[in-house]
Amino acid sequence: MTIRALHVASELYPLLKTGGLADVAGALPPALIERGADVRVLLPGFPAVVAGLTELAPVAQLGRQFDAPGVTLERGTLASSGLIVYVIRASTLYDRPGNPYLNDEHVPYGDNAQRFALLGWVAAQLAQHLDPAWSPQIVHAHDWHAGLAPAYLKAAERQHGRSFARSVFTVHNLAYQGVFPAPQFGQLGLPADYFSMHGVEFYGQLSFLKAGLYFSDRITTVSPTYAREIQTLAQGGGLDGLLRHRSHDLSGILNGVDYTVWNPASDALLEDHYSATRLAGKLACKEALQKRFGLAQKSDALLFGVVSRLTEQKGLDLLLEAVPEIIKHGGQLVVFGTGDPALENGLKRVAHAHPEAVAVELGFDEKLAHTIVAGSDVIAVPSRFEPCGLTQLYALAYGSLPLVHCVGGLADTVVDASLENLADDLATGFMFERFELKGIGAAIRRAFALRERRTEWKATQRRAMRQDFGWGASAERYLALYRELA
Ligand code: ADP
Ligand code: GLC
Repeated sequence: MTIRALHVASELYPLLKTGGLADVAGALPPALIERGADVRVLLPGFPAVVAGLTELAPVAQLGRQFDAPGVTLERGTLASSGLIVYVIRASTLYDRPGNPYLNDEHVPYGDNAQRFALLGWVAAQLAQHLDPAWSPQIVHAHDWHAGLAPAYLKAAERQHGRSFARSVFTVHNLAYQGVFPAPQFGQLGLPADYFSMHGVEFYGQLSFLKAGLYFSDRITTVSPTYAREIQTLAQGGGLDGLLRHRSHDLSGILNGVDYTVWNPASDALLEDHYSATRLAGKLACKEALQKRFGLAQKSDALLFGVVSRLTEQKGLDLLLEAVPEIIKHGGQLVVFGTGDPALENGLKRVAHAHPEAVAVELGFDEKLAHTIVAGSDVIAVPSRFEPCGLTQLYALAYGSLPLVHCVGGLADTVVDASLENLADDLATGFMFERFELKGIGAAIRRAFALRERRTEWKATQRRAMRQDFGWGASAERYLALYRELA
């Protein structure tokens, strides 16, 4: 039996991306389709989404919804993969350029509750045959933006006395909860009793994330370690009790890499190509990167790269503290990212103080991200917490050894270059246990020490590049989950 599943998300690569969620939304549906599932995606009609789709055609007129007039549902195709994408057109809610969640001052839009309630509501409508030609058996909602989809499904089930679709809710990041003042609950059209501890209420407020966790049939998160971490008081963001309560419905399924996008042997965005058996091209990528960022053109300077959202989560403040350690050993650091203005300024100051060795650029650019991942010797991901992390997986594929904090998906995907791991041919990167200067400093020194042993460095690079973090195994696990539910 072919299983029909609708993925509900707020961003999708290559249409619109602010982080790894887009990479997952862009790669997981095709991986499921390849394995025989019938998968479509539902997205809000942000300008970049609408502009990037072909064959857009109306599916349903929905009138006034969540205070937005003339809401319509359209169906389009993503030309690069043939993926079928439903888009919600609601110009007053979605027709805003730039970041899909924040305004120009980096503040969440005041009407985010309506903007993303509409997303969850339409998902539940699709399960109730809004498109006469196709309806899902599984609604797979991603992060808080889609958190109300399972709630609307359960409400419809109660109203009609039958089930329309089963739901899976995937937590990509528990730190973003979609919490709004309680009075906004009234605008959602959910049964009044859903505003309770056994529902969407969270310490007196309305939580979209809790809605997803409470009303979904199954919960997944993006790595096994993070699945354990979020059930603890320290890392459960106030939801650990609920997560422990649902632990039998909760599993950690690791994200994968789309190797058609992230492959140094064929990556069209690179200066030169290389592979595990022919590493020579990587040097040209490093030289191009040093040049691009105005760093000294020294091929033997160990080059650390960062491509990241600049938020507290990513732990770059700790990396900044460790800059003297990098400089002392003759290393270089390139940071590229965008986010929190205070962090952006802090990074700029450090670059200014060390122009030869540290370069910082602010922005979001796919090509530059690939340039850095390919041209660096080490990619640093010192996150305080990391649900999965894709950057370290891309780094492995590009032979740029990841230097990571031992948390979440980082702990599940990188093996430290300790003497015993090197001896057992297991090492793929550098890992520190405690989030403190001493820890990251030692990991940085391990990177310099391994670099001194050229043969072992190369062997570690090759091992990193041969790791298989493709979507195959994870897509199979999601399929098994769907089958169990359907
Ligand atoms: P998160 O989703 O928490 O940001 P991930 O490591 O899962 O972390 O995914 C980050 C994704 O966003 C990767 O594809 C990375 O290359 C990309 N990315 C982050 N910052 C930038 C940037 N400034 N420009 C381009 N791509 C970026
Ligand atoms: C989130 C997490 C990141 C994860 C990504 C995709 O943004 O911060 O760790 O890789 O989602 O699941």
